[in-house]
Amino acid sequence: MSVNKLILGDNLDILKAMESETVDLIYLDPPFFSNRNYEVIWGDAGEVRSFQDRWEGGISHYIAWLKERVEHMHRVLKPTGCLFLHCDWHADAYIRVEILDRLFGMNNFKNTIVWKRTTAHNDSGRFGMNADSIFYYAKSNEYTFNPQFLDYDDEYKKRFRKDNNGRLYIDDNLSAKGLSGGGYKYEYKGVLNLWRCPPETMQQYDKEDKLYYTANGGIRLKRYLDELQGLPCQTIWTDINPVNSQAKEKVGYPTQKPKALLERIIKCASNEGDLILDPFVGGGTSVVVADKLNRRWIGIDQSVRAVKVTELRLQHNNDNNIKYYVHQ
Ligand SMILES: C[S@@+](CC[C@H](N)C(=O)[O-])C[C@H]1O[C@@H](n2cnc3c(N)ncnc32)[C@H](O)[C@@H]1O
Repeated sequence: MSVNKLILGDNLDILKAMESETVDLIYLDPPFFSNRNYEVIWGDAGEVRSFQDRWEGGISHYIAWLKERVEHMHRVLKPTGCLFLHCDWHADAYIRVEILDRLFGMNNFKNTIVWKRTTAHNDSGRFGMNADSIFYYAKSNEYTFNPQFLDYDDEYKKRFRKDNNGRLYIDDNLSAKGLSGGGYKYEYKGVLNLWRCPPETMQQYDKEDKLYYTANGGIRLKRYLDELQGLPCQTIWTDINPVNSQAKEKVGYPTQKPKALLERIIKCASNEGDLILDPFVGGGTSVVVADKLNRRWIGIDQSVRAVKVTELRLQHNNDNNIKYYVHQ
């Protein structure tokens, strides 16, 4: 597939027509199993039809509606592909157990990402529900995972000192005492120790002026802030704000997800040139981000208005250099 595609239609029909094992990453943010007013966003014919499709019959009907779509998503994923399913408390347990574990296998479950979606609010008689779940599954043991790193918090950064050149560093242990797996016993500059590194590495650190001599005769390693990768991203994401009324990226879509959220998912689970599919593209966040990150993409939505908004957003994003087309 060489061209990016924005497709208007029921994703079930479109998915059925797609070739197997062609997609590297799927992100889906289907309508949640919540109440009617919240669900119908655009109010156009396609959306109302889809709403009726999945509502009559309660939770088991909703799960069946979603499951037949996810079955095809699983089929179109490459053996090395991954899927991220965004949902909330209304149906998350059912989706994980009845759909994802069954189709992908429990062994291929990677994480439940908890995204803090709003600031604190009161939910009468229970804790405030301010988070969404994003289930992350791979299709096999072989898949793309590019670790993502976050900035250190200010409290941690306060522990760094300035060296003579003004660079911030923290000193770290070079002794292997107490560590399992041994170490290297030798004397360096008069200090006999069981070191974490061999003598050649110690000399290299010295050459780079990375050794820190303590007042009581020890040697430690200077770790420079500008050389550290940051904190490896964990499963609880509180650092990405929702798209609020003031946000520059807002397109007037109530369930619009922030670009930063999609950026993290796409960077982590795909590489440049990979094909990304969003079968519930809504306001187009995933495909706009995929395009910016030089991934190929397919976005599907049943709502004319959703496709129109996504189209406009892509035009804006691409500086009018449009390289996609709309299927009817
Ligand atoms: C929660 S929104 C997606 C929001 C999107 N992630 C964003 O950031 O803007 C769900 C979208 O799914 C679309 N939708 C619902 N049922 C569908 C179906 N059967 N086929 C295609 N799209 C569908 C709706 O029109 C709606 O735009």
